[in-house]
Amino acid sequence: MSDQFDTMTADLFGADVAAVPASVPNPAPLLAGTGERNAHEFNSSLKNDSGLGGAAADADPLHPFADVPAVSAVPPSNGAGLSGTAHGTVDVTAVPALADLIEAATAGAGDGTDHKAVPSVPEDERPCFKVYDDFTVLDTGRKLRPGVWHHTLSAPKGGGDPVPVDTWVCGPLHIEAQTFDGTGNNFGRLLRFKNTASRWRPWAMPMELLKGDGSDLRGELLAMGLELDPSARQTLTRYLQERTPNKRIRCALQVGWCGSVFVLPDAVIGPRADDVIFQSGERSHDEHGQAGTLERWRDEIAARAVGNPLFLLALSAAFAGPLLKRTNTEGGGLHFVGISSTGKTTILEAACSVWGGPGYRRSWRATANGMEGAAALFNDCLLALDEISECDPREVGAIVYSLGNGRGKQRASRTGAARSVTRWAAFIVSTGERTIGTTMMEGGHRAKAGQAVRLLDIPAVRRFGCFDELHGFPSGTALSDAIKRAASQQHGRAGRAFLERLTHDERDMAELLERIKRLSPFNPPDAEGQDKRAASRFALLALAGELATEYGITGWPEGAALDAAVIGFDAWRAMRGRGNDERRQILDRLAGFLERHGDSRFSDWTAEGVMVRDRAGWWKPDDAGGRLYLFNSDGLREALKGFDYKQALDVLEACGVISKASATGERSKTENIGGRKVRVYPVRSNALHGVSNGAG
Ligand SMILES: Nc1ncnc2c1ncn2[C@@H]1O[C@H](COP(=O)(O)OP(=O)(O)OP(=O)(O)O)[C@@H](O)[C@H]1O
Ligand SMILES: [Mg+2]
Repeated sequence: MSDQFDTMTADLFGADVAAVPASVPNPAPLLAGTGERNAHEFNSSLKNDSGLGGAAADADPLHPFADVPAVSAVPPSNGAGLSGTAHGTVDVTAVPALADLIEAATAGAGDGTDHKAVPSVPEDERPCFKVYDDFTVLDTGRKLRPGVWHHTLSAPKGGGDPVPVDTWVCGPLHIEAQTFDGTGNNFGRLLRFKNTASRWRPWAMPMELLKGDGSDLRGELLAMGLELDPSARQTLTRYLQERTPNKRIRCALQVGWCGSVFVLPDAVIGPRADDVIFQSGERSHDEHGQAGTLERWRDEIAARAVGNPLFLLALSAAFAGPLLKRTNTEGGGLHFVGISSTGKTTILEAACSVWGGPGYRRSWRATANGMEGAAALFNDCLLALDEISECDPREVGAIVYSLGNGRGKQRASRTGAARSVTRWAAFIVSTGERTIGTTMMEGGHRAKAGQAVRLLDIPAVRRFGCFDELHGFPSGTALSDAIKRAASQQHGRAGRAFLERLTHDERDMAELLERIKRLSPFNPPDAEGQDKRAASRFALLALAGELATEYGITGWPEGAALDAAVIGFDAWRAMRGRGNDERRQILDRLAGFLERHGDSRFSDWTAEGVMVRDRAGWWKPDDAGGRLYLFNSDGLREALKGFDYKQALDVLEACGVISKASATGERSKTENIGGRKVRVYPVRSNALHGVSNGAG
């Protein structure tokens, strides 16, 4: 932690000190300090106030992460219990409330030779469905293979008594519960079935897959390894709809927060995790896969981010997604810009390794619609978009807006999965050789300030590409390759461990964020609206990284994430230049227009009879020896094309480039030019340059 934070913590605590009596027994952290508290204490405060980490307060000062075991000490959520500790693997993709069922079922499973004799289904019970988990022998001597059987009666052709008929429909498949989202829509069934590898697996099936001839459903079930009788298509759909199970479970259609629990495709994390399940029409979500162990991830990835602020920032960004909702923050992200082979994709892959394996990273190539589909999988998480140049520049602007707005278009995917995903937010990390603005320019669009502030350009220009500290590697290349390799082998653990702690952490995250936002490095004296929005984003990164450290996940020194966030904020400001982005664009545009056309489309207002093609106005000397340009209305509109005309005039007035509007709101003046009265807009070109060079 550098000295700069001593002043910033004075900001943080100064105002509050007087309000807190020294004798308050358990003062709220961050409020309770004295003026001398520094940022280290700020971080300890984060730590000591942990809802779970009572022990953390007594932590050995020499081992600030002595509470690391607490990560695994949190009662593990169902299906995610292995995430924090990463001991071993599970065969069954365990789902809340199913673990017991599955265990019971597996314990009772025979090896196929141990046939139990059971009574045949009596005629008065037919027609009915029955599920046999194992090979079964009926008392009639008939041997039934495991699965769902349809027991019916069939009238013989020539008449006579109906005869019992037993038809195999599919492999063992139980209907455990009905599922529905919180709004009384998206009903489904929680199925549990045995695949051809003799493993039980659960699946929350959307009911709408039963529409039509049900072939989508059969396709999904076959792909998940259930055996089906091809001639029993209708019987299968009848079985699935025959009765409605009494048990009900809430289903989430997208990854992310669902009340107080966090839903991942294969696990629900948090208190009362048993009440929720992820429901999707698509079978596999390898995005959120897991491999390796948390310990090795910490050693091989997180540890190498120490001393590498951009890398550390990218990892912090991976933890920021779940905090968006907890802090009521808008979605948005960072865009790492730099020349080829500097490690941009490397740090992006490292960020992805917090949540999943190689399948986690997305390409910018996806269209805006594809993005929204992906939003179901990355909501409240990290959305990692590699290589902006692969995207059609004309689409970049729309994508950036849709990312920030978090509103889907209510398009359904093939299996209806994304239909109800209408709101979402993710923390975005993106890479490219060009900035968002430049890429949009290539598509013939001007980046609006709102877009630039959603994805903040960060120059990937450090000592060695994206890196400053090589951690003993001989080159940036070697470090980058080691990180990439580690990310492919150690992934998916850190995010879950983070959620295990966060879902039990009842502190007011919005409040913690506010405190970080108030730190002086995030409040430079010349900050404007857009700086503030950007500062909030970096403050969120600081909070995310520090929390992950406090939870014992990263192993970083306390304050490292805060340092990296400040470095990121400064780098962003340096790249963007001072001042409000839109204002700068307007001034630059007008200055550029005058540079190009000042001598060709304007003439001295006293020179008579000068022919000017496409006249944009006239000029006359101003008091300071420069030119006062007298734009005609068409000329000014042309110069400001692409901006909201009225707003642009307001900006110009605020910068002293044009004079104040009259009482009636009129900005033009009547001048007598060449014996003709003309309405013109006087523009002080000196003021224009003065402001656009940063003097404002
Ligand atoms: N900091 C670095 N210094 C030197 N070489 C590097 C550095 N980072 C990465 N490389 C080399 O570049 C290769 C590609 O790395 P990476 O994909 O992270 O680059 P990138 O910045 O995303 O490049 P591009 O813009 O071409 O996608 C690595 O395998 C490594 O050999
Ligand atoms: Mg790359």
